[in-house]
Amino acid sequence: MSIDYSQRIPNNVNLANNKTLQRALEHWQPAFLDWWQAMGPEGSKAFDVYLRTAVSAEPAGWAHFDYVRMPDYRWGIFLALPEPGRLINFGVHKGEAAWQEVPGEYRSTLRRIIVTQGDTEPASVEQQRHLGLTAPSLYDLRNLFQVNVEEGRHLWAMVYLLHAYFGRDGREEAEALLERRSGDADNPRILAAFNEKTPDWLAFFMFAFFTDRDGKFQLAALNESGFDPLSRTCRFMLAEEAHHMFVGESGIGRIVGRTCEVMKAQGIEDPAKVRALGVIDLQTLQRYLNFHFSVTLDLYGSEISSNAANFYTQGLKGRFEESRIQDDHLLTGAEYPILDLSGDQLVVKQVSAVQALNERLRDDYIKECAGGVARWNKVLQKAGIGFELKLPHKAFHRRIGIFADAHVSPDGRVVSEAEWTHHSRDWLPTQADRDFVVTLMGRVTEAGKYANWISPPARGVDNKPADFEYVRFA
Ligand SMILES: [Fe+2]
Ligand SMILES: [Fe+2]
Repeated sequence: MSIDYSQRIPNNVNLANNKTLQRALEHWQPAFLDWWQAMGPEGSKAFDVYLRTAVSAEPAGWAHFDYVRMPDYRWGIFLALPEPGRLINFGVHKGEAAWQEVPGEYRSTLRRIIVTQGDTEPASVEQQRHLGLTAPSLYDLRNLFQVNVEEGRHLWAMVYLLHAYFGRDGREEAEALLERRSGDADNPRILAAFNEKTPDWLAFFMFAFFTDRDGKFQLAALNESGFDPLSRTCRFMLAEEAHHMFVGESGIGRIVGRTCEVMKAQGIEDPAKVRALGVIDLQTLQRYLNFHFSVTLDLYGSEISSNAANFYTQGLKGRFEESRIQDDHLLTGAEYPILDLSGDQLVVKQVSAVQALNERLRDDYIKECAGGVARWNKVLQKAGIGFELKLPHKAFHRRIGIFADAHVSPDGRVVSEAEWTHHSRDWLPTQADRDFVVTLMGRVTEAGKYANWISPPARGVDNKPADFEYVRFA
């Protein structure tokens, strides 16, 4: 089933057969395009960008590469193909047929879940909108635009669900998704991490590694949902999300690689000397890592959560890889270990597993992050540099949950307010760090050339040669 791009809204959901829905979405479309004009990538008008566009939802068909004139990107609605006979795999409805319509009693909960996910998609485009002006290469500029258009498509995915299944209040929520703004004092995005700034490319790569990966875990949990349209939407989004995380991991890997190269060639380790050579010192990388990791951990919510328990029991949001877990999928009587604060000690405490599902998803996420950090450390080891990047302790710099009011060092010690104040400049990026990183940012537009602070990628997009012109300027 190939997607017909001559339609106003390309889709694989038979929109042409549902005129009411089609009209509602065609009514929302100009508002989306206005939002994109206002909040999409700055200075990108009339570029031809070598982008991936889905041409079918089947595994072989969704990675079609060609030049696309940026504002003319065709955002469409694609759901993964249905699995005939799919059942609900967890919670009190376990074993029942997956819902094709929204169950009345879960309507407002499901809508909230979809709006919260949907809100993150335009938010990240807003956070990244000025980065095109300082891309370190055409390859990176292309990747930024790819991520941005796909986040725009993820918004379409959630808006489709709101329009198709939630009637008038769904349509109102779809409009509100275009009205909130990342970082706006009066009408901010829903989740805190999506109101932070992404001021430079180091922050962008960290965001793509850490925060897009939160997206992956949320989508994976929603992919398990008993509400089948949500599951199918998320399954297709996950395929796109993989590329965003690749951009983050390989971006940081290339920065680490370039820094090592310069340190080795010059025989230096002192961060000030490293900076003087126009590359990012490893200590600054660590502080950015600490910031983006800790801010993203908060996105999973409180350790103990009755909302999370309800989402699970009601069959709306599962665990990561729910269907592969060997247990009763009800969590009857099951326990899960969480960290708690006891005076100035961190202690492990067993709690009801169904209450601790946020923590479980956060732990699954942390495991995957650790894998990426280990791969960056391989680059350091190979270069013979005696420095190791580390994930900070999960209680470090938290704003939500048990540790929101505690001061915990990156190595997991509860510290006094005074010690926190004294050390936080070693633990989190300072204004001086950010100012330094900004001095390195400058647009490189010659095909095959890279800014001094980052190595070229190991291979090109779609196996293109090193000097491929990923972006053609008008
Ligand atoms: Fe997304
Ligand atoms: Fe993403």
